[in-house]
Amino acid sequence: MRTRRRDFLQWMGSACVGQTGVAGAQESHRLDEEARRSGRRFGFAVHPDYAGREPVKTLLRQHAGVITAENAMKWRSIEGILGGRDYTQADAVATLATELKALLRGHTLAWHQSTPRRLTNATTDVFRQEQGAHLHDMVLRYKGRIHTWDVLNEVIDADSGRNDGFRGSVLSTLWGGERYPALFEQARALDPQAKLAYNDYGMEQDDPWCERRRSAVLRMLEGWVKRQAPIDVMGLQAHLDLSRRFSASRLLKFFDELKALGLGIQITELDVRDSTTDGEVQTRDASVAALYREFLDACMSHSSVEMVVMWNVTDADSWINRGFAGTRRADGQPMRPTLFDTQGQPKPAFTAVASSLRNADSNFECPPIRNGSPLCSPKF
Ligand code: XIL
Repeated sequence: MRTRRRDFLQWMGSACVGQTGVAGAQESHRLDEEARRSGRRFGFAVHPDYAGREPVKTLLRQHAGVITAENAMKWRSIEGILGGRDYTQADAVATLATELKALLRGHTLAWHQSTPRRLTNATTDVFRQEQGAHLHDMVLRYKGRIHTWDVLNEVIDADSGRNDGFRGSVLSTLWGGERYPALFEQARALDPQAKLAYNDYGMEQDDPWCERRRSAVLRMLEGWVKRQAPIDVMGLQAHLDLSRRFSASRLLKFFDELKALGLGIQITELDVRDSTTDGEVQTRDASVAALYREFLDACMSHSSVEMVVMWNVTDADSWINRGFAGTRRADGQPMRPTLFDTQGQPKPAFTAVASSLRNADSNFECPPIRNGSPLCSPKF
């Protein structure tokens, strides 16, 4: 609690100080402006710890048209280890979005990794009551401000050995996989204007693992659409990895399948891991930029892709270089996953993304209203 308060004060403090040491301020291409040309939006996930500090503060002002709370709206962040609920940081992210006139993505109402530990051995009755109460509080608190809620995050594990493809977790066990649509129904009833998304990773590239995950996700979504669950959007995290192949045609086939289900598409957590690329920083940056370009060119050619959100702003604040538990580089060097280096200077990836957004060859088209979907462009 004390740490949170300190972070918040620090954040407020830096928000009041003028712009010092501003890096990367000379960009002629403002990414959200580029995205708007084709009816889309562009933005970043941030945490109050660093959102108010330079160079991130200025980069957000230049380029952000969407803000996602990286951690602040997660259940475990709201509920401290001592119990009680503290919305300070979540409110700070919502306020930042308002100040920037950016759309706000709510992330995430139900996720096995953010369920409070005290509920691990709860009875199903207690768990359902608590998960329902958390969803209720969050949706009502931010009602009218959220463009899209990630209602449910990462419930697919195509290799779990289960017929339904669900990940074995506190959610599938205590909430119940067959009851996932109820989360969407509850969210829709509480805030009928917010778009509702299912969000997951590992579906963007061209290898058997992604293929299995795409099939499992599609099967789940088909079932939900048949049951008329109020889901509007598939959120593709897009934590891309240079060690996996990419195929634009394979990705676009998946996008068509999602469109056929009546779903819109949002790219929700974009970054690129360069865990296996050898060489100088320049070579690594060129490879990272090339994958960004290929991926976003494909996205910008599909009418269902509505927005692109980066997971973090600079290489210094990227989760991959902070606490990420996954692959590390053999040479021990930090990865270079975002658009800006540790000083906030644009990298080749920035230019690649700006060009993709600018040259979008298809405009975003909102899916037709289906079983009570919200209007396409809620007024914010
Ligand atoms: C990550 C955050 O970036 C980290 O700071 C935190 O320690 C763990 O969660 N998929 C998601 C995000 O949906 O919520 C995760 O964010 C990254 C992977």
